[in-house]
Amino acid sequence: TPALPLSGQNVLVTAGGTREAIDPVRYISNRSSGKMGYAVAQAAREMGATVTLISTPTHLPVPAGVQMVTVNSAAELLTAVSARFSTTDLLVMAAAVSDYRPVNAADEKIKKPANHANLTIELTETPDILKTLAPQKTTQYVVGFAAETQHLLANAQRKLTSKKVDLLVANDVSKAGVGFNGDTNQVTLLRPGQDSVKTPLQSKLAVARTILETVVADQAWRH
Ligand code: C5P
Repeated sequence: TPALPLSGQNVLVTAGGTREAIDPVRYISNRSSGKMGYAVAQAAREMGATVTLISTPTHLPVPAGVQMVTVNSAAELLTAVSARFSTTDLLVMAAAVSDYRPVNAADEKIKKPANHANLTIELTETPDILKTLAPQKTTQYVVGFAAETQHLLANAQRKLTSKKVDLLVANDVSKAGVGFNGDTNQVTLLRPGQDSVKTPLQSKLAVARTILETVVADQAWRH
């Protein structure tokens, strides 16, 4: 029997929306469900890879045969991905990473001011994980995602270049059945110097398989 297409490869997948602490009981996050990343992890395992899934807390079942690592914040995600990057063959950054975090996470639960005054939380930028790792790339194939509500292709094309990824998966999250929380997705695949490919609306698992088949075809072409 022929070897599975990803056998022998270490695949690192990130999933979910990061949580940036405001105080011990509150955080800032986003609407990411983690489903797309979990589907990529499952599909990669089924294609023979050794898979590590780094995710924020979700209620999703851990795909069979996948090593799970749980993180909360963008900073923790960066640490977890960086620690594994040199031994990774394929990194799929499906996590929705918060762009900002509170400058200070309060040590105690923040109380309502007695005078009902507005409360201001100062935010600072989080590290961009893909941009941080780009200079450390040797043989890794890196996949990024872009969730957009407008100018999908223009924004995705810019991210393909600025984040130095090999494949950028763009989804228009303003459309019904696409992106956050649902079980289906429709994406456009962008690669440097190649025509973009639009996938049909299908299950996230089917989209995950299409993404990974595209990666495998690219890897074969590289060798
Ligand atoms: O810039 P934007 O958040 O739209 O980029 C999305 C892609 O970049 C995703 O693959 C996401 O996981 C990754 N990202 C990152 N570090 C950040 C923000 C996003 O690696 N701080």
